[in-house]
Amino acid sequence: MNQDQLKQAVAKAAIDYILPHLEPRSIIGVGTGSTANFFIDLLAEHKYDFAGAVASSEATAERLKQHGISVHNLNSVQELEFYVDGADECNKHLELIKGGGAALTREKIVAAVAKTFICIADDSKKVAVLGEFPLPVEVIPMARSYVARELLKLGGDPVYRTGVVTDNGNVILDLHNMQITDPRGLEEQINAITGVVCSGLFAQRPADVLLIGSKNGVETLVR
Ligand code: A5P
Repeated sequence: MNQDQLKQAVAKAAIDYILPHLEPRSIIGVGTGSTANFFIDLLAEHKYDFAGAVASSEATAERLKQHGISVHNLNSVQELEFYVDGADECNKHLELIKGGGAALTREKIVAAVAKTFICIADDSKKVAVLGEFPLPVEVIPMARSYVARELLKLGGDPVYRTGVVTDNGNVILDLHNMQITDPRGLEEQINAITGVVCSGLFAQRPADVLLIGSKNGVETLVR
């Protein structure tokens, strides 16, 4: 199985997970990235079984609409049973690094609202210690240099992701060379830097269910 087939397999597993719970009024939170795109394409086959979706990015909103799935404003949604999204890295505690696609802030907001966050990933994403994948940090543009200096003090090497502007009009610093042994603590420290909008560490709000695809099948981890 190649990586795309593994992504497709976990996307299908997420569909199987949520399908029994879908009601005509259900609204699903939908993430961003190539794995989430497989999920969207499969979700479209069931579009008459639920009310629509909340998107974690403009790209996802566009893809949902192309499939004829209604996209709702999060502020008008009373309840979000599920949020389904990929990750750049995950550990056995279901803590994640996200934001490789620059959608981390909206992803974190939708994850915060959802009752159940289902993370879908192929097994290349599973690590013992988070941090090999550079940790994305969304920053207010005028604070970029200041935040970079503060991130340096935390022990990593921040690199400005040139040419990328987030859906919220901000910029991204990718924090390289971190061995994240205390994800919750680091998330708190980064959140405390003035000018930081959000980090891609999902430790204070980890996934609830992690579906990991490998050549041996889909493994389900539950928090
Ligand atoms: C988007 O900003 C990210 O958080 C994605 O969820 C993450 O990068 C995973 O993307 P892939 O599914 O494309 O690997």
